[in-house]
Amino acid sequence: MKDASDAILRPEQAVYLDQLLPARDHIAAELEHDAALHDVPIVDPEVARFLEVTARACGARRVLEIGTATGYSGLHLARGMAPDGELVTIDVDAGRQATARRVFQGAGLGERVTLMHGPALSVLPTVRGPFDLLFLDAVKTEYQAYLDLALPLLRVGGVVIADNVLRAGKVASEERSELLDALRDFNRYAMSHPQLMALILPLGDGLLYAVKLAGADQ
Ligand SMILES: C[S@@+](CC[C@H](N)C(=O)[O-])C[C@H]1O[C@@H](n2cnc3c(N)ncnc32)[C@H](O)[C@@H]1O
Repeated sequence: MKDASDAILRPEQAVYLDQLLPARDHIAAELEHDAALHDVPIVDPEVARFLEVTARACGARRVLEIGTATGYSGLHLARGMAPDGELVTIDVDAGRQATARRVFQGAGLGERVTLMHGPALSVLPTVRGPFDLLFLDAVKTEYQAYLDLALPLLRVGGVVIADNVLRAGKVASEERSELLDALRDFNRYAMSHPQLMALILPLGDGLLYAVKLAGADQ
């Protein structure tokens, strides 16, 4: 769990917005609890809700997620998708994916999730589209490569979301590191990508949110 120094919002704003979030059901609440206990970096609850809202709003039938972890974000994506939808989710950590598989089965979503195991850069060239929504949440320094490999699989009008693009606000600071520089490069790349209309939302740890433009595949 994040502490106040990690917050993008002022503490009182974060508390206010947190209070407005509906209580999670026992599956999501247990995943949040276990993630905090075992240091699994999952999306913030408001980002999970944003993913579910977005999957619902765009009537997503196929979603590609890079970074399954224990299935917290995937649970929300799958719940927001059409009843016959499919979530394809990639992770290099077999143990976390085993947990995610149990979570999806327990939530009655087992039939609708395809878990792909391995480094995303090796797995992505084997994935078949089209997808309605693409969620990036694995190695931050690889985001640009994920986007290059996955964007051709996204339908025109499909949505791209990437987590942690403000990295506790540090991306906008003077601080330098390989990670922060890679996120700055990615943000510039995505914001000016000719196939995307993008913006960055100060939600959770910062979310890139984009739509694939018509004519982009020509
Ligand atoms: C931030 S966590 C994903 C959290 C998940 N989206 C959620 O909110 O529930 C990042 C995940 O990326 C995985 N990962 C690390 N390197 C990877 C790689 N090269 N390819 C695919 N996944 C990778 C880690 O095992 C980890 O589970």
